[in-house]
Amino acid sequence: MMTRLSVNINKVATLRNARGGNLPDVEQFARDCERFGAEGITVHPRPDERHITRQDVLLLRDIVTTEFNIEGNPQSQFTELVLAVSPAQVTLVPDGLDQLTSDHGWDTKANLDYLIPVVRRFREADIRVSLFVDPIPEMVEYARKAGADRVELYTGPYAEMYDHDPKAAIAAYRPAAEAAKTCSLGLNAGHDLNLRNLNALVTAFPWIDEVSIGHALIADALYLGIEETIRRYKYTIHNYEITTD
Ligand code: PXP
Repeated sequence: MMTRLSVNINKVATLRNARGGNLPDVEQFARDCERFGAEGITVHPRPDERHITRQDVLLLRDIVTTEFNIEGNPQSQFTELVLAVSPAQVTLVPDGLDQLTSDHGWDTKANLDYLIPVVRRFREADIRVSLFVDPIPEMVEYARKAGADRVELYTGPYAEMYDHDPKAAIAAYRPAAEAAKTCSLGLNAGHDLNLRNLNALVTAFPWIDEVSIGHALIADALYLGIEETIRRYKYTIHNYEITTD
């Protein structure tokens, strides 16, 4: 099994929105990421449309040919948009309106009664559901009880720990990663992953189905270009050279 790279293109929309025109062109960027080897495209439309807009999501529906993953808090506007677009996957995140970025996962135990019908609604529409959780085995187990197909482990703390103690960072995530396997849940990972910390994670947990990466990858692309950046991320994940012709 191979870990797939889903490129989160939020930051490209942030840059575009800074001037109000269509530069850079977010939709063309998604096409090019796929052409250069991305195995998925992720967006996180927020109610204030500060990066990805509702219109972007509707346009991307007809553009993305790999796995389209839409992240967000399942309030009514988000849910209607996702059901209209019918992506391969929805990643449910408990983020607040004023949050800079996602910084914690669901308490799937405390929110079980809330999550069960929410998850069911997407699954009945044939959309795979992933729940964003902190690396706690119990949160993974309750994601299973909520009916999710996958969990996405919040890797912000992993990235922070990795910089001073890589072994401890992996050890801290092992119980939750193993729990996903034991529960027969698919496993995604995301947040603050980069070219330094990615290989250790996917090597320790080769059953990770997908990593979704935005901030560091787009920052790397400023220096390397997006084609070379995607090539390097895939090389890092798969440990082999990818040709892009
Ligand atoms: N996963 C989720 C749920 C997120 O909210 C984000 C940020 O939009 C990411 C992954 C990607 O994180 P980063 O931009 O740090 O790579």
